[in-house]
Amino acid sequence: MYQIAIDGPSGAGKSSLAKAAAARLGIVYVDTGALYRTVGYYVTTKGIDPKNAEAVSAVLPEIHVELKFENGTQYVYLNGENLGDKIRRPEISMAASAVSAIPAVRAFLLETQKSIARTHSVIMDGRDIGTVILPEADVKIFLFASDEARAKRRTKELAEKGIAADYNDVLREMRERDAQDRNRDVAPAIPAEDAVMFDNSELTVEESIERLLEIVRERVPSAR
Ligand code: DC
Repeated sequence: MYQIAIDGPSGAGKSSLAKAAAARLGIVYVDTGALYRTVGYYVTTKGIDPKNAEAVSAVLPEIHVELKFENGTQYVYLNGENLGDKIRRPEISMAASAVSAIPAVRAFLLETQKSIARTHSVIMDGRDIGTVILPEADVKIFLFASDEARAKRRTKELAEKGIAADYNDVLREMRERDAQDRNRDVAPAIPAEDAVMFDNSELTVEESIERLLEIVRERVPSAR
């Protein structure tokens, strides 16, 4: 078994890359952002301010989050309901970022993430995978790209999901969210000391996948 951690700012292409690499390597892809999005979604539907640490912490016992994997795809269940793309909306991105700065929320989601990596070879993407969740990961990557490249990709990704979004709004919200994720006190979104820094602004998706697989195979001889 081996573990690959991919961290980096939003829209850097972590999920597409990790998903494709997982399929090639025959291992499980875990999207940890979906867990924070689920908590963000729940508090939003309850009319709770996602920045209100006390109010958010108080409803955590009402939340049961479960990750299920079918044919290599991850599905997130909130109290038995599959949320699908409802957690992808821009307002849920902001709510996810806000709740993710609350230590009680991070503690609440810790075991769900760690336990998957105990029983499966994984490629896990997030913000603190290499630093907090899997500090012993065999491979750590910090994936990033220019703000403009990331905003362009994110706008396209949303459009493909049928969510209309304006490029300039996406760029502004993305910068705001990244600053919030990077500057929080608990598990800030920064590279692990031993992470490989990977700038994919100028690479196609296929080139990025090839480069990622090279990095993995250099470090994990058993990876296919
Ligand atoms: O990867 P994403 O955009 O789906 O993540 C949504 C938010 O969740 C992100 O703004 C910060 C938070 N997050 C986190 O704090 N730690 C993680 N491992 C993954 C996501």
